[in-house]
Amino acid sequence: MKTYNVAIVGATGMVGQEFIRVLEQRNFPMASVRLYASDRSAGKKLYVGHEEIIVKETAPDSFQHVDIALFSAGSEISKHFAPIAAKSGALVVDNSAAWRMDTAVPLVVPEINPEDIKWHKGIIANPNCSTIQMVVALYPLHKVNPIKRIVVSTYQSVSGTGSAAMEELTTQAKLALEGQNIVPHVYPHQIAFNLLPEIDVFLDSGYTKEEWKMVEETRKIMHADDIAISATCVRVPVFIGHSEAVNVEFTDPMTADEARRILARAPGIKVLDDPSVSLYPIPWLAAGTDDVFIGRIRADASHPRGLVMWVVADNVRKGAALNAVQIAEESIRRNWVKPKS
Ligand SMILES: NC(=O)c1ccc[n+]([C@@H]2O[C@H](COP(=O)([O-])OP(=O)(O)OC[C@H]3O[C@@H](n4cnc5c(N)ncnc54)[C@H](OP(=O)(O)O)[C@@H]3O)[C@@H](O)[C@H]2O)c1
Repeated sequence: MKTYNVAIVGATGMVGQEFIRVLEQRNFPMASVRLYASDRSAGKKLYVGHEEIIVKETAPDSFQHVDIALFSAGSEISKHFAPIAAKSGALVVDNSAAWRMDTAVPLVVPEINPEDIKWHKGIIANPNCSTIQMVVALYPLHKVNPIKRIVVSTYQSVSGTGSAAMEELTTQAKLALEGQNIVPHVYPHQIAFNLLPEIDVFLDSGYTKEEWKMVEETRKIMHADDIAISATCVRVPVFIGHSEAVNVEFTDPMTADEARRILARAPGIKVLDDPSVSLYPIPWLAAGTDDVFIGRIRADASHPRGLVMWVVADNVRKGAALNAVQIAEESIRRNWVKPKS
């Protein structure tokens, strides 16, 4: 079996740490692994399996012997280093927003558009976390009955902002319970016992960039430029797991039972839908798992060709690290990665 030299850029962060877990759990065919972060973390020791690895500062020569580079260190780092890594012959799978809407870069969810990997020129983009779980849930239905319009409201956990936000929620929750003063650092307002309808920056349209990512990325992944989409993205005081209330309008009517049957057979999905016993997806149970969970599937009372559903997934796994590793696995499976040695 071929094995590959892997590099993780952003290895000390939320997604970087999950990359290490996912690679281990899936027995990814690694010949070696290199861990990179900023100069702040250089010298830090991390374990991959039983091997202790010293984190190095990311530098132009970091990718010389690398076959697959998994990036999760933010857009600026990806913009700078991903082309350098690709030029040195590595396949880059990038978690940031830097390349997602570049027409020369495939944006891939392996359950939906693995064929797009084929036209990569060294960089493949991993979509935004809230987009990934929504398209995994909707694409199997879209294939049977094309979707005309989506209205989605998200309930996004703080892990989506990274490790500093996880600490902020923990600290603020303690301070709030002790009745002490709270000064927000990561978010514009207190996040503990609160929620914020602001994720990423506001655009002139009144939407946030996160909301607009859901619109553009969904169309690109599903190859469906004419789907009308409106999103409202909300940060909630949950540590891990994004939840979404999704209203979908189809070309033809579709019953909830038909949707349940289609989704139950679709890859990467678990249907949890029995309201009589309060069975529906919740972020607490989705955390640490790989599937996209769907429940509360029902006819949309406001539209004859509409359905409503509730979609939950671990944003750090399927929304980031797992999807990126699946892209790498799919590229290997189709012989689209050539090991250097
Ligand atoms: N969290 C999610 O659910 C999620 C989902 C999808 C996509 N993403 C994307 O993944 C990326 C990372 O997110 P995260 O949640 O893992 O953030 P994070 O926990 O804040 O981690 C950021 C990582 O980037 C590294 N980094 C920062 N500045 C750097 C520099 N100048 N050079 C090299 N490395 C540097 C950090 O290293 P140090 O430890 O040295 O600072 C750390 O390893 C972001 O682009 C984010 O949008 C995240």
